[in-house]
Order: sequence, then C-alpha cells, then structure tokens
Amino acid sequence: MPADSKTNETVSITDNTTGKKVDFPLLTGTEGPKVIDIRTLYSGLGFFTYDPGYTSTGSTESKITYIDGDAGILRHRGYSIEELAEKSDYMETCYLLLHGELPTAAQKEDFESTITRHTMVHDQMNNFFRGFRRDAHPMAVMCGVVGAMAAFYHDSTDITDPHQRLVASHRLIAKMPTIAAMTYKYSIGQPFMYPRNDLDYAENFLYMMFAVPCEAYKVNPVLSKAMDRIFILHADHEQNASTSTVRLAGSTGANPFACIAAGIASLWGPAHGGANEAVLAMLGKIGTKDNIPAFIQKVKDKEEMLMGFGHRVYKNYDPRAKIMARTCHEVLSELNIKDEPLLDMAIEMEQIALNDKYFVDRKLYPNVDFYSGIILKAMGIPVSMFTVLFAVARTVGWIAQWSELIADPAQKIGRPRQLYTGAAPRNYAPLHLRK
Ligand code: ACO
Repeated sequence: MPADSKTNETVSITDNTTGKKVDFPLLTGTEGPKVIDIRTLYSGLGFFTYDPGYTSTGSTESKITYIDGDAGILRHRGYSIEELAEKSDYMETCYLLLHGELPTAAQKEDFESTITRHTMVHDQMNNFFRGFRRDAHPMAVMCGVVGAMAAFYHDSTDITDPHQRLVASHRLIAKMPTIAAMTYKYSIGQPFMYPRNDLDYAENFLYMMFAVPCEAYKVNPVLSKAMDRIFILHADHEQNASTSTVRLAGSTGANPFACIAAGIASLWGPAHGGANEAVLAMLGKIGTKDNIPAFIQKVKDKEEMLMGFGHRVYKNYDPRAKIMARTCHEVLSELNIKDEPLLDMAIEMEQIALNDKYFVDRKLYPNVDFYSGIILKAMGIPVSMFTVLFAVARTVGWIAQWSELIADPAQKIGRPRQLYTGAAPRNYAPLHLRK
C-alpha cells in the first residue's frame, strides 16, 4: 500500500461484549470512496468480515482503471473511455493499460510490430484442436487451448523474470485473436487461416475469422473500426469477477497462461461475459415487439432476468453502453441493414425499462452487452463466439492487472476467510451404528 494513501483519519470498531476498541486507518485513493484498512481486524479484535459478493470489499490497490458507478465514469490510467473510444485505437489502449502512459509514435510502432510478430501460434497447437468435438462451445475450447499455452511457451512462464512476464503478455495479447478464430474455423470445418502481418489487430481477427484460402478477402474498414472499438470498450474493468479470478490465481504464483485460462472460465458465466450471448437468446425468446410488455411483466415478477441490464457498479448508466449503441447504428447502416427486428426490439425494451418504476427504483440501465450482441450478429459473428470476443478484448486488462499484482512487493496469496455454519464437533460413528 503506497504511503500517500494514508490519512490521519481512523474508524473505530468496539466489541460491545468485551469493550475492546481498535482504531483502523482510513486510506484515500486518487478518486473514489475512502477505504478502511482492516488488515489488523483479526489480530486486534479476533473478528473476520462477512461480505459475500465483495460488495464493500477492496481486494487490492491498483493504478490501472477507475470506475465511478454513480456518475457513470470509466477511465483507464486517467483517460475517459469516451475519449479512448473516439480518438485512440485498441493497440494504443493496450499499451496504455500495460505501461501506464500513451505511447510515443516510436513506442506505438514498436509495440504494434511486436504484437503482430507474435500472432502465429506454435504449429503443434493445430493438432491440439483436433482433440475437441466440433460442436464444443467455443469458450470450452478457449479455456483448454489458452491453458495449454503454458505447455508450449516454456520460455515465458518464469514469473520472477520481468522480461519473461513481458513476453508472456505480448504472446497472450497477440495470440488470443488467432486462437479465437481457430476455434471458430474448427467448429465449422474450415481450414485455419494464418495471421497476416500487413493487417492491424482488428482487421487480422476479421480476416482469420472470415477468409478462406481459395479466394481473396477484403476487410471492410467500417467493420474493422467497429471491432477495434468493441475491443477498446471491453479492454479492462478493474476488479470484476474474471479479473479477480486472474489475480487470485496469480497470487499463488501460477504462470500467466494458467491465470488467463482461469479468467476465461470466470468470464463464461451469463452474469458476466456470457451476457451478450444471453441478450440475443432473450430477444429470440421474446420473438416480436408485441411480446415485450408481457416479458417485462415476467421480469418484474422475478420469473425472468432482463439480460444486458444492470451492473454491480454502474447505478446510473454504463458509459460503454452509449458508445456501443452508437457503434451499433454505424455498423447496421454500413451493412445496409435498415430493418433489424432485434435492434428494434432492443431499442423498445430499453425505452420501456428506462421509464418503468421497477427498473428506475433499482437503478437498472443497459450495460455494455445490451447492444454488443446485435453488432456482432450483424457482422456475421456467431452467437456462441460473442463471449470469446469479450475474452480476446479483456486479455490485456487481465494481463495488466496480473503484471501489477506480480510486480507489487506487498502481494501475498489471496485467501478469503468464512463464516462457518456447518455441523458442530461430533464423534465419528462406525458404519454399523449409522441410521
Ligand atoms: N433484470 C431484472 N432484475 C434485475 C436485473 C436484471 N438484469 N439485475 C438486477 N435486478 C434486480 C434484482 O432482482 C434485485 O431486485 P430486488 O431488489 O427486488 O431483489 C435488484 O435488481 C438488485 O440486483 P442485484 O442482484 O443486487 O444486483 P447485482 O449488483 O448483484 O447484480 C448483475 C449485477 C449480476 C450484473 C445483474 O444485474 C445481472 O445479472 N444482470 C443481467 C446479466 C448481465 O447483463 N450481466 C452483464 C454484466 S456487465 C459485464 O459483465 C460485462
């Protein structure tokens, strides 16, 4: 914990049974609420805290991303997501997240060249894919293949060596789109497309997804720009479930490939990265606009969830959702999709929900995933690949947070405590006496 976080303020907790009182320091960050440093709670009072879902618990100090959920603010290294989405590109945002500053022109060129030259995967990995069923969920394949990178890149698994950590970071950022596209190609029985060094990150991904060896493929610049923006919007989001999973795995000293595989597994759930897939499933289930009011009523009766709505942190609006909605219109216009029933339904649902007391009272707003699924579907990305794309984009955030953790001299293994409510001590009963 940095010395400049300390304040002179304290918060006291008194054990009313014993009368013992302990003062706990209040810490202050650059922005955000003050934080009570309760590390001496157990040694001082003999208590643990109870905070399932960690709604009030800070697990780490971090310099990477700041979110103010009430004001709808998301900033990476001090730069607003709106400005990054409009003026920056994904490679630059990756550099910023990893290194803390925007790159100079020379640094940007060098970084892009490094990432581009790491995009190919070990050729033996092609065979590894063949062990999976063709109808496997792409996220299942991603968990396996990314975890298996530790079996291929032995020269970047020593986490005590800063150079190896950097090489592992570059490899993960560079190879994720390749592995993601291979996952898709394998599922449809098409040959893997090798990455092309003349294309940028988003273009390369679209090329590896949609090109085939027998004909030329030209990447649509509007679509690659939209893809780049989707990557920026998903790049990092401080201590969310998958990032916390990566950090927890990293705290044990596990290698970076294993840690990112753990993050992918955590992202898969519908309450997290699986939500964009769940939004389309929900829209499909509703079917037509006429059925929206009945569906909204079911949500209010707690029989359904409005997927793509609500967020643990954003209780005003998700700034990423606004940019995503704009991008959605751009993509549909470029593709000349004038009448997209899913988009019409999404817009109508958003309007109904934003004006309905149930959603207003609970501060439920569209999150980043409400519109991203519609864009991806319009681009021809199959629904089962949506969360994979999220994983591709989030890899830089995971790896930046993991690097910060490993470089922090104060880091120790993450080990939460619990409130035990199981059986009290009892004697073992021999089998013949059990009823
Ligand atoms: N639809 C309907 N009701 C909801 C929704 C929703 N999507 N989200 C929350 N609520 C309701 C809850 O039922 C609860 O109501 P109550 O007070 O009557 O009991 C209230 O709003 C508060 O909800 P919590 O569960 O306390 O909110 P929490 O912060 O734990 O959950 C979460 C956040 C998990 C994102 C939740 O809103 C959700 O599951 N949303 C749908 C899935 C989704 O879109 N996830 C993507 C998140 S963004 C991301 O990971 C990139």
